[in-house]
Amino acid sequence: MEYNIALLRGDGIGPEIVDSAVAVLEKTASKFGHSFRFTPYLIGGSAIDAVGVPLPPETVEGCLASDSVLLGAVGGPKWDSLPGDKRPEKALLGIREALGLYTNLRPAKLCPALRAASPLKDSVIGSGFDLMIVRELTGGIYFGERGFRKGKYGQEAFDTEAYSVTEIERIGRVAFETAMKRRRRVCSVDKANVLESSRLWRKTMHALAEEYPGVQYSDMFVDNAAMQLIRAPSQFDVIVTSNMFGDILSDEASQLTGSIGMLPSASLGSTKRGMYEPIHGSAPDIAGTGRANPAATILSAAMMLRWSFGLSGEADCIEAAVDKVLEAGFRTADLMGADSGTPLTCNEFTNMIIEVL
Ligand code: IPM
Ligand code: MG
Repeated sequence: MEYNIALLRGDGIGPEIVDSAVAVLEKTASKFGHSFRFTPYLIGGSAIDAVGVPLPPETVEGCLASDSVLLGAVGGPKWDSLPGDKRPEKALLGIREALGLYTNLRPAKLCPALRAASPLKDSVIGSGFDLMIVRELTGGIYFGERGFRKGKYGQEAFDTEAYSVTEIERIGRVAFETAMKRRRRVCSVDKANVLESSRLWRKTMHALAEEYPGVQYSDMFVDNAAMQLIRAPSQFDVIVTSNMFGDILSDEASQLTGSIGMLPSASLGSTKRGMYEPIHGSAPDIAGTGRANPAATILSAAMMLRWSFGLSGEADCIEAAVDKVLEAGFRTADLMGADSGTPLTCNEFTNMIIEVL
């Protein structure tokens, strides 16, 4: 089969890690007899530099015409002082919205080989953890009404958290369906003790839970969830939550696995086309030094094969190759922890994976 993949390399380490994933995909294609056609488009700060806007219309059109999208990362200090709607990050929100990607799947699974890299004590890790954060991605405070106004203490800025029943139901459904294919537990995270939008969230989730009697449902306040994640992560299977809570909790969950450099994500809508990206950022401080860990992007490419193209055998193969390289003791700089020795560069690590493949 032939598949068209739009590449959004972005900024910082984005280009290096996307190129690593492309090399792994090319190897996979030749091994399994597929053909992947890659078309690069501008996004983020590099788009601002080249054409003056973070999300050029050709990028949106190109992504809409593709079978799937692979993204590196956007942003960097160079563009930090631009006004909100001209920042590289705005492009990310724009492309998520334009492609209708309301679901963000962020798995956090302890890879046995990286147990020592986790900041958690051995006793807390126990027999490991494997959780999936289902983050709502096109609503809430990221997309709510915002602006400036005169407030009690003078001029103030505001952002608004708003959720409709429709938005809550559709992300809730993804969470329950995901749980059905896993360990059948859903924990919905909100702040219903304070926020009206969270109370509607909780009420809607409860109604939905009735439709899934086979799934064990619970609610948790977000502050408690932040604590429970480091206290006993194995209690979680699927966590479903709003855009902003999901943003925060997924960074926390990722670090439990040893490094944010390991975790992939999938952003999905109601079609097979998804956007796949590492959950980490553009790490401008290490861009071009070879210290980037390409694993999260390579694993994102594997998620693309599985979810968008239905190539689960191929995806398994890539994931197994990453595991094997880690089990053999190879590490990028972020995974070294207290280990001595020389870390592999981004390219060396990628080549090891390709060799295993
Ligand atoms: C993420 C990032 C983005 C987000 C930023 C860069 C806009 O932190 O994908 O988690 O907040 O969604
Ligand atoms: Mg984030």
